Amino acid sequence: MRILILGHTGFIGKNLFRKLTNDGHEVVGCSKSTGVDLLDYAQTYAAIKDFSPNVIYNLASHGGGIHYVNEYAADVYSDNLQMALNIYKSIADIDCTIKVIQPFSNCSYPGDSSIQTEEQWLSGPVHSSIFSFGNSKRSIYYLSQCYRRQHDIKSINLLLPNTYGPGDSLDPNKTHALNGMIIRMLRACASGDKEFIVWGTGSPVREWAYVDDFVEILVKSLHLDDMCYPLNVAQGKGYSIAESASIIKELCGFQGKIKFDTSYTDGDPVKVLDNSNFVDKIPNFQFYPHEQGIQNTILYYKKLFDME
Ligand SMILES: NC(=O)c1ccc[n+]([C@@H]2O[C@H](COP(=O)([O-])OP(=O)(O)OC[C@H]3O[C@@H](n4cnc5c(N)ncnc54)[C@H](OP(=O)(O)O)[C@@H]3O)[C@@H](O)[C@H]2O)c1
Repeated sequence: MRILILGHTGFIGKNLFRKLTNDGHEVVGCSKSTGVDLLDYAQTYAAIKDFSPNVIYNLASHGGGIHYVNEYAADVYSDNLQMALNIYKSIADIDCTIKVIQPFSNCSYPGDSSIQTEEQWLSGPVHSSIFSFGNSKRSIYYLSQCYRRQHDIKSINLLLPNTYGPGDSLDPNKTHALNGMIIRMLRACASGDKEFIVWGTGSPVREWAYVDDFVEILVKSLHLDDMCYPLNVAQGKGYSIAESASIIKELCGFQGKIKFDTSYTDGDPVKVLDNSNFVDKIPNFQFYPHEQGIQNTILYYKKLFDME
C-alpha cells in the first residue's frame, strides 16, 4: 500500500512513519519543515500528485497548550482548516479513491460532557479554553462529510484522548500534559526538590492514550471501511491528574511531596470517552497499562536527558 503521512515529523507522525516503514509499506512523509507547506494549495497538490498514494494520514496540525491556542486562536483555527481545505481539494482534483485517515482530539467534545459518546459529539459547544483548536477539528469533520457527499471521498475520522509517550515536542508550548509532568518530575528528582507543584486541583479526570496504542489504531484503521462520523478510540477509563502524578512520583522515585497550585485553571472536569462503538469496530484491542506507558516514557526521557 502506498501511504502518504502529512505531518510525519510530529509526535504521532514520526512514530507512525517508523511503524509503517517497519511493516513494509511504501511510505512517504511531508511536513512544513521538510519542504511542503500544506497552507499552500500548489504545494499540497504537488505532494499528493507526485506520490499518488492509496491512503493519506492527515496528521498535520497547528496546536499547543491551552494558553497557546487562545493567544494564537485565529492562526490555529484558520491553519487547521486551510490545510484540510487544500488536502481535500487536491484529492478531489487528483483521485477521489484516495482514503483519508485523520485523528481528532477529544477536546472537540462539548465542554460539559463527562462520559463522551459519539452521538453527543456535536451536541454542545467546545469548552471555551480550547475554542479555536476544538472547533477547527469539528470543521474538518464537516469538510470531510461534504467531500464524501459530492466526490465520494472516503474518510476515517477518529477521536482520541490526550496522548503521551516517547517522541513528543520539547517546546514547552507544545509538550503534552502528561509528558510535561514526567519531565518536570525527573528534573525535580535530579535537583533533589522537596516539593513538586501540580497545576490545578489535581481532580480533573483524563483518559490518556499511550503513543504506541495511538499508532497501532491508526494502522488498524487502514482496514476500516468508510467511517466519516468519528469513532472514539477509547479505553473507557480515566485517571485523575492526582493519580497520574502519584504513579509518576513512584516510578521516578521522587522523594518530595506533591502539592496542588489551585491558582491554575483545571479545564474540563472529566473527559472519558465511551468505548461501546470502539470495542465493536476493533474488538480485543489491548491497550498499554497506564503504569507501563509511564514507565516507558520515563526511561525515554532519562536517556534523552542523560539522566540514567
Ligand atoms: N498528540 C495528541 O495528544 C493527540 C491526541 C488526539 C488527536 N491528535 C491529533 O493527531 C494529529 C497529530 O498530532 P501531533 O501531536 O502529532 O501534532 P504535532 O506534534 O504538533 O505535529 C504537527 C505536524 O504538522 C505539521 N505541520 C504543521 N503545520 C504545517 C504546515 N503548514 N504544512 C505542513 N505541515 C505542517 C508539522 O510539521 P513540521 O514539523 O515540519 O512543522 C508536524 O509534522 C493532530 O491532528 C492532532 O489533533 C493528537
